[in-house]
Amino acid sequence: MLFSSPSVRHLQALAKIIRVLVAILVVASTIDSKITFADEVDFNRVIRPILSNNCFFCHGPDRETREADLRLDIREDAIEAFAFVPGDPNESELVYRIFSEDSDEVMPPPKSNHSLSDKEKELLQRWIAEGAEYENHWAYTPIESPPFESIDEIVTRRLEKKGLKLSPEASKATLLRRLSFDLNGLPPKPEAVQTFVNETDPDAYEKAVDDLLTSKHYGEKMAIHWLDAVRKNDGLLSTPACQNCRGSESRTWDAPCVHRDSYETSARIVPSIGSGR
Ligand code: HEC
Repeated sequence: MLFSSPSVRHLQALAKIIRVLVAILVVASTIDSKITFADEVDFNRVIRPILSNNCFFCHGPDRETREADLRLDIREDAIEAFAFVPGDPNESELVYRIFSEDSDEVMPPPKSNHSLSDKEKELLQRWIAEGAEYENHWAYTPIESPPFESIDEIVTRRLEKKGLKLSPEASKATLLRRLSFDLNGLPPKPEAVQTFVNETDPDAYEKAVDDLLTSKHYGEKMAIHWLDAVRKNDGLLSTPACQNCRGSESRTWDAPCVHRDSYETSARIVPSIGSGR
């Protein structure tokens, strides 16, 4: 009979395997989306930048440019204006607006030259589904100790969420090389590497940190950021209006001053720096 011919049976078996595979994929993808869902969208890190870049100009604190009498920077105002219903994206005007394909309705309006990526729309939708919580601007939020101890733990937690692990500890020579670049901007001397590798003291690493911190190259490395700012100022300061402001003078002073842990000294020597220009 045709149905029992081997090739048809093979096909049926194949179809079954495919069905099972598809089922596994579907289950796997829902598990995956649950995992990402459990990882709540952070207001300050993720949502505030989206709103502030795309919406606050017309729905923010500035009364002059505010549209539709709608503020999205204050949660209560946004809820009162029915911009969204916390926990219910489907009932939220905001979600309707950002996904709308009608150019008269979609937010931000096309004429504003702003637009949201699919990812940003999805994040706003998820944030509303998760309750649309706001947070104070991070700069005004008191610093709290995290509920765990070391930086390694913080990093490990993030990595675990992504199914990753910390790399194994690097060799002593590599550790010293990294440390040296970090703190002094230079590779360690071969003798220093040799000493460090042979060192048996459990505090050897901490000692290496102390040594590098007392090196004058530490001042040079840390002054780089300051010098970058000064170099930018050089251009600004050499305008006719500011002939007496000589930013470059500070270069001679920065590295030693930073080395002594004192920007202030630098500012006193070259007053134009202290004025914040
Ligand atoms: C260039 C100005 C502008 C920008 C930017 C803008 N909007 Fe609007 N928005 C308007 C105007 C004008 C209206 C009123 C007209 C209308 O309803 O379409 C409005 C209306 C709305 C409404 C409906 C308010 C109501 O009372 O029904 C929502 C919700 C909204 N905007 C959300 C957003 C979001 C979210 C963003 C950023 C992703 C955004 N808007 C960016 C100008 C802007």
